[in-house]
Amino acid sequence: MAIERTFSILKPDATRRNLSGAINAMIEAAGLRIVAQKRVLMTRPQAETFYAVHKDRPFFAELVATMTAGPVVVQVLEGEDAIRRYREVLGATDPAKADPGTVRKKFALSISENSAHGSDSPETAAIEIEQFFSGNEIVG
Ligand code: CMP
Repeated sequence: MAIERTFSILKPDATRRNLSGAINAMIEAAGLRIVAQKRVLMTRPQAETFYAVHKDRPFFAELVATMTAGPVVVQVLEGEDAIRRYREVLGATDPAKADPGTVRKKFALSISENSAHGSDSPETAAIEIEQFFSGNEIVG
């Protein structure tokens, strides 16, 4: 399996409750390396662009509101099979359906305040990484 990169966001519900370190520890324990990381306040246009694929879904307005409600930590994670592996670390989008031991089972408050995001494919990962990081900010 090739070394991949995936994009991660530690969401406002996680930063608000001081959970960045706890989630980073789970990321690193899973064998993923944090090769870029910064704490930012997402603007409304940034959130709308980032989640444009969901723009016609009934939860879009709530999603944009929750993602702009406080600081997020945006990250690039690197490792073998990183995209699938990180989604395993996160668990199901809906915390009620997430497996024990996953980030969302442990920490998520609801489906929209679900503590963290991970890319769902190599194509999406490349687009998402480019939205927040320039090449020289990623140090593998
Ligand atoms: P995320 O992995 O960031 O990708 C899209 C987000 O939409 C998802 O996590 C959830 O936080 C959010 N969301 C809110 N409501 C729903 C819903 N009903 N179905 C799927 N995603 C939802």
